[in-house]
Amino acid sequence: MDKIFIIGNKPLSGEVQISGAKNAVLPIMAAALMVKGNSKITRVPRLKDTFTMIQLMEIIGAKCDFEGNTLLVNGDNINNPEAPYELVKTMRASFYVLGPLISRFGFVKVSLPGGCAWGPRPVDFHLKALEKLGAKITLKGGYILAEAKRLIGCKIGLDFPSVGATGNILMAASTAQGKTIISNAAREPEIGQLCRYLNKMGANISGIGTTNLVIDGVEKLNASNIEVIPDRIEVGTFLAAGALLGKIKLNQLNPKHLKSVLQQLKKAGCHIEETNNSLTITKANSIKPLNIETKVYPGFPTDLQAQWISIMILANGRSKVTDNVYYDRFSHVPELNRFGANIKLKKNTAFIEGVKEIIGAPVMSTDIRASASLIIAGLAARGKTEINRVYHIDRGYENIEDKFRQIGADIWREKG
Ligand code: EPZ
Repeated sequence: MDKIFIIGNKPLSGEVQISGAKNAVLPIMAAALMVKGNSKITRVPRLKDTFTMIQLMEIIGAKCDFEGNTLLVNGDNINNPEAPYELVKTMRASFYVLGPLISRFGFVKVSLPGGCAWGPRPVDFHLKALEKLGAKITLKGGYILAEAKRLIGCKIGLDFPSVGATGNILMAASTAQGKTIISNAAREPEIGQLCRYLNKMGANISGIGTTNLVIDGVEKLNASNIEVIPDRIEVGTFLAAGALLGKIKLNQLNPKHLKSVLQQLKKAGCHIEETNNSLTITKANSIKPLNIETKVYPGFPTDLQAQWISIMILANGRSKVTDNVYYDRFSHVPELNRFGANIKLKKNTAFIEGVKEIIGAPVMSTDIRASASLIIAGLAARGKTEINRVYHIDRGYENIEDKFRQIGADIWREKG
């Protein structure tokens, strides 16, 4: 297994080009399974997860051609509406094929996703919604079997604004008979882009960006093209490093997707310059301790909770970080304490006592965003850090060590 090494405490300066969003491209790729013909998706990040999704799409029968950051999908010969356990267990987002395949074939067999590093992540909202749309759902040998001659539109109220469930319902309802209304829908920018992509394919979705999405079912969708939106979580990850270590400019992004994060970084003492497609952050002389709580969009994102803690461990005082989306997403805390941070956990809150400096150490990645927090801590630490199990970070970040090296970090990978 590869390892990433860092010699910390080097000032960062320069520019970073932001990649397309992992959490936007995965549902878009799934949506391309709904149609025959050629779909062209651009600004696709080269990640472990996008390659896994391509593998799954090819098992289902799609023809995929991935050159640079452009993905061409041909759906003419899709004939196997099944997502096998071997793939779904490595990437929960494989579950996104549920809506598209039941819409196109009236039948789908998808393995239940395994638990994630921070505990089981159920899919009950997805299944309850499909049943309401008229699908017959059975569970057999760890697989979900869903079938419906044609789904019938209806009112669906989500108990929680689940991103994945909202995505699956949007794709299933696009060709259902009649109108579907999703209340308490997710408002993440990645869901907004999925709505726009489906509408380009011929769907009829309104209320985009609100918690009430209305889908007027259509008979047929057609292949279309789309450019993936910038990855706001990658932006937040580099902003966290800049907050501690220098002055860096991030390009090709949409600052509107990070309002809650920019607000907190400014309150913590960082200077931020904004244009319509870039952000320049200058580190704070001393980081002010702030209490934050993660929320669904447009609140502070849970996917930046770990990276935010890496800032707060060097703040000038005491702070708290509560995760209201995933109560046990704190596997990075014991690893950060190995750097000499002082973090105590109580239920879904991390209590942090800021320290003056942290010291490099051997640590272990446990999930995509936890790994990012370890890189940030390693960059800020005195001495050498060794990060193990970096396959986690490769799932969600495109060439992360190259991007950090370009702005002055002493960081390298050793193939294992
Ligand atoms: C998406 O996961 C993202 N993944 C996650 O990013 C992100 O953390 C999450 O949304 C929250 O923003 C992708 O987009 C591929 P949810 P998803 O359904 O859709 C509970 C990353 O690092 N829930 O919004 O799986 C669930 O347990 C990844 O890029 C149910 O109870 O998240 C969680 O507590 C990690 N039943 C909450 O809802 C369900 O049927 C939010 O989950 C579905 C979800």
